[in-house]
Amino acid sequence: MSRWTYDCSMTGPGTLAGRFLRRFWQPVTKIDDIGIGQTRPLRIMSEDFTLYRGASGKCFVIAPRCAHRGSQLSTGWVEGDDIRCRYHGWKFTGAGQCVEQPAERERQFCDKVKIAHYPTVDYKGLVFAYLGDGEPPVFPIFPELEGDGVLETISYRRNCNLTNVLDNQLDEAHFPFAHRRGSDGFGEMPTIRVKRTEYGVAGYCERAGSNPRVTEFMMPNILRLKMLSCNAVPIPGNGVAWRVPIDDASQYTFGINYYAVAKEDKLRIAEEQQRINNLPRPPWLELTEAVLAGKMTVEEVEANLGEHNPIQNVHFEDHVVMQAQGVVADRDREILGSSDLGIRAIRDLWNEALAAFAKDGTVNNEIIPPPTLVAGAPATALNIVSDPSSLQLA
Ligand code: FES
Ligand SMILES: [Fe+2]
Repeated sequence: MSRWTYDCSMTGPGTLAGRFLRRFWQPVTKIDDIGIGQTRPLRIMSEDFTLYRGASGKCFVIAPRCAHRGSQLSTGWVEGDDIRCRYHGWKFTGAGQCVEQPAERERQFCDKVKIAHYPTVDYKGLVFAYLGDGEPPVFPIFPELEGDGVLETISYRRNCNLTNVLDNQLDEAHFPFAHRRGSDGFGEMPTIRVKRTEYGVAGYCERAGSNPRVTEFMMPNILRLKMLSCNAVPIPGNGVAWRVPIDDASQYTFGINYYAVAKEDKLRIAEEQQRINNLPRPPWLELTEAVLAGKMTVEEVEANLGEHNPIQNVHFEDHVVMQAQGVVADRDREILGSSDLGIRAIRDLWNEALAAFAKDGTVNNEIIPPPTLVAGAPATALNIVSDPSSLQLA
């Protein structure tokens, strides 16, 4: 039976899984969530950083504290592409180099002072950072997000361990129940198959009477999927999502969605997307806690929401079932079945990768995403492809 054999649930500094995950580019914010000249404290994988956005528009990730006497740099001021500490005014570049020590009137020693900095890349509305040892790998470009269509970025938090979420990535059997959405029955149960791919595993799900659905998991924490937009007339699109631990009890999802729309429709659709994304956001995590505490049911929550982005219902329903497993699901007590093939496959991938990493530091982080298995196939409903013949099943 497949289990998490290494302690993948702990990703703090110095942990095996944490060192492994840090060897890949990880998204840390939507660029829209930090304005030019703004700073933020940032917590990723139980480690603190300073995030700021300089006058050039570029985001920088540097150490959380000032080298002088340890004040939190996110309380400081952005000057150009540099940041100045609020306590005694030491100034640092985005490369972590101290360049001013105003109170050292006799003799500044900036050249001897440097704090940690981390490479960043802006990619289609998300900011990625490389938080690991050594040189960063080549930044992965996802072909299904390329084009002249409409892009959107998403981010949300879920309060459970990363492994609860990794277990869910190819778990097609939860759809008829967790995402039942008030329907009378549960619908057809899916047939689930999986296949190893170059960088991960593809999950193939078939239900009688509907088209198959293909979802691709890529190591270590990436999901590629077909989706539909939330426009009045839904538009088929491609999504790539990253699951990034905040700490061992919570994680962010950052996603990029791309909709290939006709040029003449682009502005209208982009505006509609923006309106949907700017709708009030229900307090999903508080509502999740209320459900877990027995104060409300999922159905009661969903019946009483004002206008909001409806895709967030899916995330909320997933919050409930994954947080309901406990902060870290107890795998010693679980009983896996044949519908849990995707769960087994992802755990196997992780266990193999961490075993190699533990042995001699091997890490396959030079990812060049190949075309998706569903590239070019028009989706006719959420995540559904019309031609499964391109996928060879295990
Ligand atoms: S603590 Fe930052 S300048 Fe003194
Ligand atoms: Fe789900």
